[in-house]
Amino acid sequence: MPGYQLLDSGNFRRLDKLGPYRLIRPSAQAVWSPLAQASEWKKADAEFIRGKHGDGSWKIYNKSLPSEWTINLADSLKMVIRLTDFGHLGVFPEHHQNNHLNASITKRTKTGQSFKLLNLFAYTGAVSLAAASLGAEVVHVDASKTSVSWARENANLYPDQLKIRWIVEDVKKFVSREVRRKSKYHGIVLDPPSFGRGTKGEVWKIEEDLVPLLQQLQELQDEHFSFMQLSAHSPGFTPLALHNLLKPVCPKRGSIHYSEMSVTAKTGGLELPSGACAVFKV
Ligand SMILES: C[S@@+](CC[C@H](N)C(=O)[O-])C[C@H]1O[C@@H](n2cnc3c(N)ncnc32)[C@H](O)[C@@H]1O
Repeated sequence: MPGYQLLDSGNFRRLDKLGPYRLIRPSAQAVWSPLAQASEWKKADAEFIRGKHGDGSWKIYNKSLPSEWTINLADSLKMVIRLTDFGHLGVFPEHHQNNHLNASITKRTKTGQSFKLLNLFAYTGAVSLAAASLGAEVVHVDASKTSVSWARENANLYPDQLKIRWIVEDVKKFVSREVRRKSKYHGIVLDPPSFGRGTKGEVWKIEEDLVPLLQQLQELQDEHFSFMQLSAHSPGFTPLALHNLLKPVCPKRGSIHYSEMSVTAKTGGLELPSGACAVFKV
């Protein structure tokens, strides 16, 4: 049994199974009717109920639901799951399975060359862990101390030592510093939120800050730069828009694919849209 499964979605809610537990969360994208019987949804262990002001809280149906547990995301990749105050669980399953990134990494690592990956807005580290487990040297950047500690906990569950540098910092500040240091990377992954804050309250607004950030990231590309992934979950940032953002800042020798991201459902179920993505690869 996989550690994570989307069991059903609809009526603006999603029903996920994480390890042995079923959780219901709001989902603005689930505009259709659920496929599963109501009895399936009634087996949920907890549900996140959104409040009137965008806040919310968990309603616990199973009194023995632990405050945290571990799931197997893939092979030996494990992640700690927690019910957070804002309805997140510490994992975005649409991100960790990335065949294009995996192929770019192994192309270099199988011949003994290093692959340096910069992961920005890196959250609890699903991408960092998956990349490092293939031998990439990862720089993981997020402004949230809590998210980076959580990512480190996840890395500690991996049986071997992973090459990950953990950075708690504002992305714009960190990238400016890397440009000054003339650091170079073979791959870059970024999943910017619509709005965010750096460690010292610096404001991140995707509409204003993404274009200048991408221009700076161009300066961090190694001569063998072979992978860049930009994903977003903000209105207007469609797959084609992300392609148009990446095109001017990626080397001409590769190609850019763009698509809607989705969470795969269990067999026979409906996939759940979860943002847009553009991928440059050589
Ligand atoms: C949507 S999540 C990324 C999800 C991640 N890609 C994954 O697959 O797990 C956005 C992350 O951006 C971080 N963030 C927001 N503003 C930031 C800033 N100015 N500098 C650095 N990180 C920031 C948040 O702490 C959060 O962890």
